[in-house]
Amino acid sequence: MSNTIIKEIDYDRLPKHVAIIMDGNGRWARKRLLPRKAGHKAGVERVKEIVETVGDLGIKYLTLYAFSTENWKRSNDEVSSLMKLLVYYLRNEIKTLHSNQVKIKVIGELSKLPSTPKQEILDAINLTKNNDKLILNIALNYGGRQDIIRAAKLFAKDVNDGKLKINQLDEETFNNYLYTSDNPDPDLLIRPSGELRISNFLLYQIAYTEFWFSNIYWPDFSKKHLYQAIIDFQQRDRRYGGIKDDK
Ligand code: IPE
Ligand code: IPE
Ligand code: MG
Repeated sequence: MSNTIIKEIDYDRLPKHVAIIMDGNGRWARKRLLPRKAGHKAGVERVKEIVETVGDLGIKYLTLYAFSTENWKRSNDEVSSLMKLLVYYLRNEIKTLHSNQVKIKVIGELSKLPSTPKQEILDAINLTKNNDKLILNIALNYGGRQDIIRAAKLFAKDVNDGKLKINQLDEETFNNYLYTSDNPDPDLLIRPSGELRISNFLLYQIAYTEFWFSNIYWPDFSKKHLYQAIIDFQQRDRRYGGIKDDK
């Protein structure tokens, strides 16, 4: 990793956790009269650049929305090309990721994935499990509602098994049952492609997250857009429902 310094960025006030909805691959391709899968392929190139840039900045947590629980509605052909690209990404990048101390994690229901991508991702998780420079959460077959329902079921099971009492459930305890339990909540959520919605991403975790939207399609999203999102984030006044001290 290199160490480019961007003078507009305040390195003491970086977001700890950045989450990105990688959207707009299909429209990027359509604009070029290419098949949708060409857009997904171009999107993978951006994943490489953005992961590296986030690591260089010294941000510790990055969560990338790669495949939602609703994306199974797409054609078999498209789903299969997305799964193949996941395998392609991991096979090509795993050495670099590992040598850059990136720890790969998955949030979402991995068991429903086809066996090849599932195995590839399990191998990547296992290889990188002791790394700790950048925690890269890949949201795969992820849905925010599914995350919450799963957490509720896991909690109910612990109550059933006598490990906890119902009145012990508070925000912190509930958080422990979410896929993201080891992470701080995202400080900054980025969604390119022009859509102004969450599309079932981290519903519970984004209570006080700052949003950054852009019309750019994901395959055109470069490190300069990431820098811009961070610079904008640093201008925000995060009050968490309180009042600023100086007012
Ligand atoms: C994001 O791009 C990739 C996934 C959702 C897997 P899209 O495929 O949603 O692209 P658009 O939104 O149709 O342009
Ligand atoms: C969200 O994008 C999911 C991912 C980027 C993985 P979608 O393209 O699926 O979202 P909608 O359908 O526009 O809400
Ligand atoms: Mg989309």
